[in-house]
Amino acid sequence: MINAIEITELMKTYRGKRMTRVEALQGISLKVCAGEVFGFLGPNGAGKSTTIKILMGLIRSTSGTASVSGLDVNRPESRRFIGYLPENPSFYDYLTAEEYLRFVGGCFGMPGSLLSRKTEEYLKLLDLWDARKRPIRGFSKGMVQRLGLAQTLLHDPDVYILDEPMSGLDPVGRALVKEIMLDLKRRGKCVFFSTHITADVEAVCDRLAVIVGGVIRKVQRVDEIMAQGVEAYRVHCTDDDQALRVEPAALRETLAKLEQGGRKVTLVEPIRAGLERFFLDVVKECAAEKPV
Ligand SMILES: Nc1ncnc2c1ncn2[C@@H]1O[C@H](COP(=O)(O)OP(=O)(O)O)[C@@H](O)[C@H]1O
Ligand SMILES: [Mg+2]
Repeated sequence: MINAIEITELMKTYRGKRMTRVEALQGISLKVCAGEVFGFLGPNGAGKSTTIKILMGLIRSTSGTASVSGLDVNRPESRRFIGYLPENPSFYDYLTAEEYLRFVGGCFGMPGSLLSRKTEEYLKLLDLWDARKRPIRGFSKGMVQRLGLAQTLLHDPDVYILDEPMSGLDPVGRALVKEIMLDLKRRGKCVFFSTHITADVEAVCDRLAVIVGGVIRKVQRVDEIMAQGVEAYRVHCTDDDQALRVEPAALRETLAKLEQGGRKVTLVEPIRAGLERFFLDVVKECAAEKPV
């Protein structure tokens, strides 16, 4: 089976003035399947946008290879089946939202009637229908972001590469984007998106990769991370408003003591370490490894 996205030993060194060098990617490898929602999680400056720009053919890697839908990213055809949302979308802002989508659809060679239907569908889905006749110049950041998402969906691509898709959106917008991602997954599409916010990953992703300092530190299933690591328990008793926090090793003994003391335990709640902790631990580990 062809991987939707395949990255092998990718390196990128930016060279600046006066011999300055930034090693943004230090040989990363990754495979993402069709039907998978994949979170590319990393702190600022980790190399997420660099990876995505290489996948989109916007910049070239220093070495290594990358392909989308089995096509090398250096071949322009590879971009025909990708929906791409850049980090800071900026569109021809004298166009209206509707004109912009028609322009994008035209670039992908969509026939007129299909384009009209899809433009209407996605303007409505992303809550831009009432603003469709307004120039993008007057749009808020959230509206531009939603137009960016509409633009990725328009030509029904197989692979979605989204650079921080939730940024600039309010909670309603974020929920909508998550719903759209899950719908794409149900339709067998591949969604690869970058973020630095663990909550975005938790709700929708099958797997995630954590990238720090241009190195992929972990690739793991999200449900595995969520299932592991009960950090502590919260023990609630009937005659006490305040729950007790109990370490796992001490749970049995604490419950026995409470019972002996005549207390009635109403609820024992696990406190899970979760993704946030997982992510912070990986980042902390990397910081500790760095030579001083
Ligand atoms: N055009 C560029 N020239 C020089 N350095 C760059 C350039 N673009 C990005 N970088 C550097 O590469 C590293 C990774 O950046 P980026 O991929 O944008 O990170 P992220 O998207 O994870 O925040 C950072 O240290 C950044 O400063
Ligand atoms: Mg970025």
